[in-house]
Amino acid sequence: MNLVIIGFMGTGKSAIGKILARRINYEFIDTDQLIESERHQKITQIFREEGEAFFRSLENKLARELSHADRKVIATGGGWVLEPENLQLSRINGFIISLTAQPEVIYERIKHETHRPLLAGEDPLGKIGEIMGQRESLYRNADLIVDTSLRTPEQITEEIITELTRRGIVNARG
Ligand code: S3P
Repeated sequence: MNLVIIGFMGTGKSAIGKILARRINYEFIDTDQLIESERHQKITQIFREEGEAFFRSLENKLARELSHADRKVIATGGGWVLEPENLQLSRINGFIISLTAQPEVIYERIKHETHRPLLAGEDPLGKIGEIMGQRESLYRNADLIVDTSLRTPEQITEEIITELTRRGIVNARG
């Protein structure tokens, strides 16, 4: 069983995923990082030089590979949910955790960052609202949905572990 974390950019997938993995003794995997290290290219460069569709094909290839994995916490990129097959594959051996946050909170978290090509334009807050609106129903397609707007990654991780333990997905020692 894996724990697969989906959600919009800046909802805390990587930060929370890392803490969660450490706490339950699973391996942590970040799909963006894995793609960057396999290609020796940053995401912005892949988008710029090969285009978004190519990046999505790399995500899909990874989804296929990870459907054979076990005891991993997998933080996905925000657009993982755009390809329906990715989630279907994630579900084969995975429990899906969706993280959400208010657009204004996301904007505050990402406003000084430069590594997200989809938010690089003139009006990042407007873009956040627009893309989030398009994807909202996809992010609801999860076993557990947790809002990360008002609490720290540590507090949110505790809540997730409590819920996973209650449902018998993990025990406190993993
Ligand atoms: C994307 C989110 C990014 C990264 C890429 C595209 C998206 O990941 O995969 O820039 O389409 O939402 P994070 O959610 O980790 O920022």
